[in-house]
Amino acid sequence: MDLLEFEKWALREFGIDLSAYKSNQLHRRIQSLMSRVGANTVDEYVKMLKSDIKQREKFVDFITINVTEFFRNPDIFQELSKILKKELSQNRRPLKVWSAACSTGAEPYSLAMTLNEIAPGLNHKILATDLDKNILEKAKKGEYGETEIKNIKNDYLDKYFSKIDDKYVVDKKLRNMITFKKHDLIIEGYESGFDLIVCRNVVIYFKPEIKDSIYSKFSKSLKQGGFLFVGATESIYNYKEFGFDKSSTFIYKKI
Ligand SMILES: C[S@@+](CC[C@H](N)C(=O)[O-])C[C@H]1O[C@@H](n2cnc3c(N)ncnc32)[C@H](O)[C@@H]1O
Repeated sequence: MDLLEFEKWALREFGIDLSAYKSNQLHRRIQSLMSRVGANTVDEYVKMLKSDIKQREKFVDFITINVTEFFRNPDIFQELSKILKKELSQNRRPLKVWSAACSTGAEPYSLAMTLNEIAPGLNHKILATDLDKNILEKAKKGEYGETEIKNIKNDYLDKYFSKIDDKYVVDKKLRNMITFKKHDLIIEGYESGFDLIVCRNVVIYFKPEIKDSIYSKFSKSLKQGGFLFVGATESIYNYKEFGFDKSSTFIYKKI
């Protein structure tokens, strides 16, 4: 089996569409993972993946790359907060938000804190989705260690977290704002009616045509005047094609 056949096998076996990923980068990464786990050929690696649950988990974790942080790129998060504040001062209403590819939950909980600070007492709803079921379980639990909470200001920690043993646990007030759900951005359909979609640090791994199709679907999922917030390396050059105006380098407004 070669790596292209492996891609097809992985789609059948794991439901992950590797053909959407940038090939060179993906193949380099798979080869490096294979050599790390001691597989000399793709066939040997497939054999391992078929029989060893630990290897299967390792493969999915490796492919999905779930690194995340609370308030990732704090300056840009601050910009988003300003834009939303202005928006809500003109029309105070509960927002419907989607944190797409939310990993362990740091992003949707950061959004929940932000919304609660700028417009408390409204029934804001956040849909938080990811491809990876295991990561969503951690996200739902809302328990974080000392290193994971380093970006969170002390007053937010006091206000929104309880310290239980060595864990910081997200309070119910924030949890109740968020619905976690498994969703694949490439394969599945999208909900609509969002005021804000946050999708950061995932499309960077996808081929340009897949990325464009995702942005086009996001545009359809947003209400007119809604915002799309992308990652700090994911500025969209052809934003007009998707019906967006630029609000800032990483925040786009649906016209
Ligand atoms: C690097 S993390 C980004 C997390 C967060 N958005 C951030 O910026 O901190 C990428 C996440 O994308 C998820 N992911 C990868 N492919 C996906 C897909 N096709 N659909 C939905 N989520 C996907 C991974 O499971 C992972 O949790």
